[in-house]
Amino acid sequence: MRIAVPKEIKNNENRVALTPAGAKEFVKEGHEVFVQQTAGEGSGFSDEAYQLSGAKILPTIESTYEAGDMILKVKEPIGPEYALIRENQLLFTYFHFASNEPLTRAMIRSKAVCLAYETVEKPDRSLPLLVPMSEVAGRMAAQKGANYLEKPLGGRGILLGGVPGTLPAKVLILGGGVVGTQAAWMAAGLGADVIIMDVSLPRMRYLSDVMPKNVKTMMSNEYNIRKLIGSTDLIIGAVLIPGAKAPHLITRDMLQEMLPGTVMVDVAVDQGGCIETCEPTTHENPTYTIDGVLHYCVANMPGAVPYTSTLALTNATLPYALALAKNGWQDACLHYPELRSGLNIIKGDVVYQAVAETFDLPYVPVSYYLNQH
Ligand SMILES: NC(=O)c1ccc[n+]([C@@H]2O[C@H](COP(=O)([O-])OP(=O)(O)OC[C@H]3O[C@@H](n4cnc5c(N)ncnc54)[C@H](O)[C@@H]3O)[C@@H](O)[C@H]2O)c1
Repeated sequence: MRIAVPKEIKNNENRVALTPAGAKEFVKEGHEVFVQQTAGEGSGFSDEAYQLSGAKILPTIESTYEAGDMILKVKEPIGPEYALIRENQLLFTYFHFASNEPLTRAMIRSKAVCLAYETVEKPDRSLPLLVPMSEVAGRMAAQKGANYLEKPLGGRGILLGGVPGTLPAKVLILGGGVVGTQAAWMAAGLGADVIIMDVSLPRMRYLSDVMPKNVKTMMSNEYNIRKLIGSTDLIIGAVLIPGAKAPHLITRDMLQEMLPGTVMVDVAVDQGGCIETCEPTTHENPTYTIDGVLHYCVANMPGAVPYTSTLALTNATLPYALALAKNGWQDACLHYPELRSGLNIIKGDVVYQAVAETFDLPYVPVSYYLNQH
């Protein structure tokens, strides 16, 4: 198979979907690898390193899309890329369709096969291609929150861990999954008082077993959220309902009840955000303030630490990408059932129910395509 890796063009996105080590694995199995010039530069991988692994370097994004039967990417295609995608091409990348109607419609028009990293789901419901980036974003969320709580950056001017004789900052984490857990470890490690809210009792039982003493758990509901927000310094949004838009747990009116300089980091922004006033921001302009409350809503947080993120992501994606190249997407989905749930759009049909429901589009079960095979 011909595998092509375009350079990411989303603002400040420095990750790349394949490392030279990964390229070598494809070449070893007899595939052809095409990498757009400087695609790996932002993550510290030179064109020469890819060439040494047997990949060919292509000069433009157009020639790269043209070369691939399978396009390996990190972020969803953006406007200028839509026209480069062609019928039957396999795209393996993050899409987050449920929060992006123009992208959904463009991919339907392209008649490509869209396999989304974020909905690849194992039988135990874990999301193996979301986990590594969630780990990065979760750890970063606490780091960013601590930073923006500083007065000159617009925060309350409170040190996350305090010092002897002062109380530490209070951190509320909405969602105790991968992001929430990693954020809690970091915030607790810095000495903050942390509360994790979730709706899953088994998850909260697990968290209260493994977390340090300064992390408590609490059922997530409007009553409890309203009770806490007036005395919280940092709120981290980390909710996920797979394939669907995040619920708005913090509504606009709640901002009035918060302390001026409260910081909110909505990591769930890529699924629409669990804070009503959350609008996607970029690393160039990461924050804005509404009613005295600072919002940080960068949709591609791991993009700021590309070295760590590229390695973490490709460690997880490479085995699947190799299987897709070896068997083709239909057979690969039969061998790896988790890849099946990654299929979102096939040749113009929406095959992921939550996406079809979100935009009121016709839904075609994925079995229609797999059983035909
Ligand atoms: N901004 C970024 O750069 C970035 C990077 C990685 C992940 N994310 C996003 O972060 C979010 C969280 O990802 P994750 O990997 O931690 O997901 P996860 O599935 O591991 O955890 C989600 C948690 O939310 C909980 N939850 C569901 N409904 C809830 C509610 N009403 N109140 C409280 N908790 C609720 C679930 O029980 C689960 O424990 C996702 O939207 C993901 O796309 C964003």
